[in-house]
Amino acid sequence: MTDLLDIRDLSVAYGSGAPAVSGVSFSVAPGAVVALLGANGAGKSSIMKAVSGLVPAQGEMKFEGASIGKMPARKRVAQGIVYVPEGREIVGNLTVRENLVLGGYQVAKAERRRRMEMVLDLFPEIAEKVDRSAWRLSGGEQQMLAIGRGLVSGPKLLLLDEPSLGLAPLLVRRVFDRLATIRAESNLAIVLVEQNLAVTMRLCDELHFLRGGRIVGFRTAKELKDPAARQEAVDAYLGAAAA
Ligand SMILES: Nc1ncnc2c1ncn2[C@@H]1O[C@H](COP(=O)(O)OP(=O)(O)O)[C@@H](O)[C@H]1O
Ligand SMILES: [Mg+2]
Repeated sequence: MTDLLDIRDLSVAYGSGAPAVSGVSFSVAPGAVVALLGANGAGKSSIMKAVSGLVPAQGEMKFEGASIGKMPARKRVAQGIVYVPEGREIVGNLTVRENLVLGGYQVAKAERRRRMEMVLDLFPEIAEKVDRSAWRLSGGEQQMLAIGRGLVSGPKLLLLDEPSLGLAPLLVRRVFDRLATIRAESNLAIVLVEQNLAVTMRLCDELHFLRGGRIVGFRTAKELKDPAARQEAVDAYLGAAAA
């Protein structure tokens, strides 16, 4: 089976210093959830932005078998590659509904309406507040809105950048439970960026560990079900601080 996303030897450099990402290769099968784990500054967001076409990158990127390296960001969204950035980046002075409409600006009206209903079904917390300004939502609700906005654009591949950031553990669990529901109900593939292994384990099939812009380790979620194996991976790749 062709991989949905295939990244070979990806590098990202912002200036003359050390590159932010060096020689990163990974692939995502249709419907799979692949995690990129690493500390702050490891290069996780840079990989996501390179895949979305928001920063220039070297290397090979294929989506559904076709090269996307030269494709503008807007076109990648239309192809089904949708990035939900770190820090949520919803538009605070627009309503919840208007934010969702923005997510579907490339989608025909009827289809957009159908997807918005699906999102509001999935996140009843924000359905109650569709006509409120987005800045009035709690952090957890803003994260649901950011994910919801991504879903309205009809992704085949969702790039989720630290969805747990700044959320209380209970809300993290709620957001990840909803993501698990989406997974169960559709063939959506996800690249999940996180710093926290325990959170990531709730959703993913495979994990790549990043340090200094390079992939330094790989484990399947199945391998990490064993607590000793999990501790070993944390010690080897994330360091005590990230446990
Ligand atoms: N726009 C930018 N300009 C210059 N350097 C950047 C920029 N964005 C990120 N970097 C640098 O690239 C490295 C990786 O950053 P990033 O991809 O954001 O890591 P992560 O998401 O894992 O925290 C860091 O050293 C960071 O300072
Ligand atoms: Mg980041």
